[in-house]
Amino acid sequence: MAQDISFQLDATDGKARAGVIRTTRGDIRTPAFMPVGTAATVKGMMPESVRATGADVLLGNTYHLMLRPTAERIDRLGGLHKFMNWNGPILTDSGGFQVMSLGALRKLDEDGVTFKSHIDGSKHRLTPERSMEIQRLLGSDIVMCFDECPSLPADRDRIASSMELSMRWAARSKAAFGDRPGHALFGIQQGGLEQDLRGRSAEALREIGFDGYAVGGLAVGEGQAAMFDCLDYAPDQLPEDRPRYLMGVGKPDDIVGAVARGIDMMDCVLPSRSGRTGQGWTRRGQVNLRNARHADDPRPLDETCDCPACQNYSRAYLHHVIRAKEMIGGMLLTWHNLHYYQDLMAGMRAAIAAGTFASWQTEFHARRAEGDI
Ligand code: GUN
Ligand code: ZN
Repeated sequence: MAQDISFQLDATDGKARAGVIRTTRGDIRTPAFMPVGTAATVKGMMPESVRATGADVLLGNTYHLMLRPTAERIDRLGGLHKFMNWNGPILTDSGGFQVMSLGALRKLDEDGVTFKSHIDGSKHRLTPERSMEIQRLLGSDIVMCFDECPSLPADRDRIASSMELSMRWAARSKAAFGDRPGHALFGIQQGGLEQDLRGRSAEALREIGFDGYAVGGLAVGEGQAAMFDCLDYAPDQLPEDRPRYLMGVGKPDDIVGAVARGIDMMDCVLPSRSGRTGQGWTRRGQVNLRNARHADDPRPLDETCDCPACQNYSRAYLHHVIRAKEMIGGMLLTWHNLHYYQDLMAGMRAAIAAGTFASWQTEFHARRAEGDI
């Protein structure tokens, strides 16, 4: 018999939580960072390399995969795990948020959203029911509700009506998802930076009942201070005994601040995307490997990092291959960045378990304040 997905909370330290999400495809240690594999690949990385960085779970995107190569084709070929050769758990986003960022190319109504493909301009439609069908065809382990969210700043009426629409879509998502042992459905809280709207959204989601709950609609232009103000209350409005997932975040200090406020899961394109443009993330902050100061530097990017980029290559080499637009430049920096992010998560999990998260945070910020060496 297929097992259900469960969440076990092992330790708390202040508001920070450490635990494990058990899935039929393996455990997800939390707090967890999910590398983004939008188009059935974490760009520039083999799946076994992604796994070697310490990732337990990947994120995939309904929007991109429905357009190319299509969910039906992936289903015919045995599902997304087999297609992309990743046998760990996969969480898929529902498409609503990605369609929203198309701006003028989309049209929203009560039933769903019609949009034009960014690839060839062809017309497509997503509804809660269709999004659930696509995520089922992909074989996603953790399915996200179909939602909608305005970019910030937006006026309160727009945020309220958008949140209410997302809650009606959450109920339809749940009905369409049905009962699928071994697969989880997460609700998505909306409500912008309005505490009462976030509270109403959380209430609506709890009433429907989900396996996990996401904080959506953040990291959309409000800045870190405003996001943290919201995270001071938003996670507390969601059930304590379920995973809480902050969508689309973020920089290392955003991630640490979110975990300190009770978030269990996050995803972001930043470590992979910025790696391809020559940005390295280390304990000492952001390092631009394109900078001429690295051209003659024989030292590794981070001498304490045990990733292949830092073990086998100099800053001078990374600088050269990035400048020369050689593929290995993006590959090595993506590997390093994902490795650093997973190290960060492992460090937080250990500190939460040991009850030393406050001093861990002090050390984290002190290192970054020193800057790159
Ligand atoms: N990714 C980042 N933010 C969001 C959000 O609010 N909703 C969805 N579906 N995905 C996101
Ligand atoms: Zn490294």
